[in-house]
Amino acid sequence: MPTASDLIEAARAARGHAYAPYSKFAVGAALLTSSGDVITGANVENASYPVGMCAERTALFAAVATGHRAFEAIAIVGPEGVALSPCGACRQALSEFGDMRVIREGHDDVTLRDLLPDAFGPRHLARTGI
Ligand code: THU
Repeated sequence: MPTASDLIEAARAARGHAYAPYSKFAVGAALLTSSGDVITGANVENASYPVGMCAERTALFAAVATGHRAFEAIAIVGPEGVALSPCGACRQALSEFGDMRVIREGHDDVTLRDLLPDAFGPRHLARTGI
């Protein structure tokens, strides 16, 4: 199984593919699946600013779109010296697929549940009959 430092390295390599000409804030992410695969992503910005996407969701969507739905951990790497933490939208998107370890440089590891307690999720959509 890849280690936390393997995941940080994979996220750092993915960060090299970030497309961030507007913010100049490149981010890379690496998701570890339960089967031991590592799926990476980077932020991809757009001239229409709100259309851009964070590294974490790029990695998540790539993973799900290639058949992965069970995750152990995600590592996130931003610019040198910045102790990044995933944005609220990414916390929500990741939380759809359950809890996982969040590995961030400059922070202690936490779980996604620590970062997004009492999240809205699939269980709230149980049919009411209406
Ligand atoms: N960004 C990420 O990709 N992940 C984060 O955890 C925080 C922010 C991106 C979005 C945008 O392209 C740039 O960083 C500046 O906000």
